[in-house]
Amino acid sequence: MSRKNQLIELLSIETPIIMAPMFLVSNVNMVVEAMRSGIAGVIPSLNYLTGKELAQALDDLNEFKSSNENRGSYGVNLIVQSTNIRMEEDLKICLEKKVPFYITSLGNPEKVVEQARTYGAKVFCDVTNIRHAQRVNEIGVDGFVAVGSGAGGHAGPYSNQLLVPALQKHFPDKPVIAAGGIANGKGILSMLALGAVGVSLGTLFIASTEARVSDEYKKAIVDSGMKDIIMTARLSGAPVSIINTPFYRKLKEQDEKAGTASKNQMTKLERLEEGISMLEKSIQPGNYNNLWVAGHTVELIDEVRPVKDIINRLKEELKVAIEEVREEDFFED
Ligand SMILES: Cc1cc2nc3c(=O)[nH]c(=O)nc-3n(C[C@H](O)[C@H](O)[C@H](O)COP(=O)(O)O)c2cc1C
Repeated sequence: MSRKNQLIELLSIETPIIMAPMFLVSNVNMVVEAMRSGIAGVIPSLNYLTGKELAQALDDLNEFKSSNENRGSYGVNLIVQSTNIRMEEDLKICLEKKVPFYITSLGNPEKVVEQARTYGAKVFCDVTNIRHAQRVNEIGVDGFVAVGSGAGGHAGPYSNQLLVPALQKHFPDKPVIAAGGIANGKGILSMLALGAVGVSLGTLFIASTEARVSDEYKKAIVDSGMKDIIMTARLSGAPVSIINTPFYRKLKEQDEKAGTASKNQMTKLERLEEGISMLEKSIQPGNYNNLWVAGHTVELIDEVRPVKDIINRLKEELKVAIEEVREEDFFED
């Protein structure tokens, strides 16, 4: 019997789950484990300092993909904003390596769509509202990643409970992948019930054995609850969700003391560079610079586990969740 889920078809995977791209966190090993488990993993091109390193990572992923017994796939996340001066070079490398699919964020994905099409690769685009969805729809993206409130990273303002059906209403033919606030099978089923073709999960995979971030960061994911997540524009200029650590509180206090005058002396790019440099330090072991990006799902994460175990549990939970919704509980014959 053939399966009808659109994301399974579009990406040639077994289960419609994506391991979301995470700046400084995602790595080849995590994505390989995702593919081995029959889902898709996505890696941000900016996790590599040079084009050569990116090319090597893509070679490794292609080699694994072609030998993998299960149907898994991988994609690359491209930041298509003008501040990303690496965009052209990274896209060129991705095209050469025939990356199977792309997730673009923060800008105009036109070039990516145009080029990816030359060899049949799919392009999905992060959207947080209908206006942006309208623009990228006109460009001809293959689908949307609906980034809802509570997501790790650049979370959107709207709950996916509304954003997913709203996107469906406005663009009935465009597949929607839900991202943000999902960390178990019931969460996945809820998004599928709303009409999403699949889900993209980030924060849950920070607490994986394979994530090469400090144990302190992983412990913070396990120990924190949703009350500990706040939004700050301090790192990239746009609001990003982070764990409200004592380090962040001190930084904010210093900013407030310094006042807006000194802040204004820095250009946008300088602030972005400073933010990225602080983030880079934060993921290193034993660093007091605790600026840790994470979403609300920290509330549901209780342990650090291998990627394979995390995915197996999600699949099991999804099956149980589907079985638990029984028609006879709601309707009489
Ligand atoms: C640590 C971290 C880094 C992220 N980096 C990126 C990124 O570089 N590019 C991007 O498009 N999204 C990024 N995101 C967002 C994720 O791709 C995804 O949309 C989000 O994690 C989904 O929400 P969840 O964390 O509630 O699962 C990041 C998220 C986290 C937690």
